Amino acid sequence: MGTGVVIVAAGSGKRMGGERNKLWLPLGGEPILAHTVRLFATHREIDEIVLVVSAEDHSNVLKWLDRERIRVKVTLGGAERQDSVRNGLTALSDNCSFVLVHDAARPFITRQQISALIKKVQQDQATIVAVPVKDTIKVVGATGIVESTPARESLWAVQTPQAFRMSLLREAHQAAVETGRMGTDDAMLVEWLGHPVTIMQGSYENIKITTPDDLWLGEEILRKRKGE
Ligand code: CTP
Ligand code: MG
Repeated sequence: MGTGVVIVAAGSGKRMGGERNKLWLPLGGEPILAHTVRLFATHREIDEIVLVVSAEDHSNVLKWLDRERIRVKVTLGGAERQDSVRNGLTALSDNCSFVLVHDAARPFITRQQISALIKKVQQDQATIVAVPVKDTIKVVGATGIVESTPARESLWAVQTPQAFRMSLLREAHQAAVETGRMGTDDAMLVEWLGHPVTIMQGSYENIKITTPDDLWLGEEILRKRKGE
């Protein structure tokens, strides 16, 4: 009944605007990637880790893992995030009954939240971390005119990790390949199979480091946690 994790790190960080993948940028003096990988690598309930990286970052990631003495499987990503997750799933062994998919760009997920999610997926088969949206969300048409305003109580902003029974997520990715569909998260592919997906309320601190603003926010979150 092992649990594996696919950590996707094979993006290029375009919105961050730097020359290298944003995951090398420092957060508290260490690459963002280091925070995320170390958290899972030292989590007692995680049995196997596949880190998905780009061809460009591959040799530097291997060197860094070696230096840090972190043992994870490394595989190459693809053009879209969905391709990277699929490659990660292929690289995971069949010993894992459950799998978590996590963005390397979310270094602030906590040990306790990972444990709670692992417990919940064993019940639910598909469950994802999410937070209630704080803003009112509008659906806007191509002409710039507001079409509707969904009830805020029903809106959740979803994050990672997203957790699934391994066979279910593999089936969902296979179906997406066969139908040529691209989802913006993994849960969507499982929803397309008609399988229920539950949410686990997470934290607003579990930000995805995406634009330069997120870097100072990340430093503040780290500082706050160190003081706790
Ligand atoms: N990712 C990936 N493979 C891709 C695209 C994204 O593994 N082809 C990973 C990123 O490395 C990141 C996570 O998916 O950890 C979430 O993606 P995002 O925050 O969008 O990162 P990037 O795609 O790198 O950034 P951008 O969209 O600004 O280029
Ligand atoms: Mg992206």
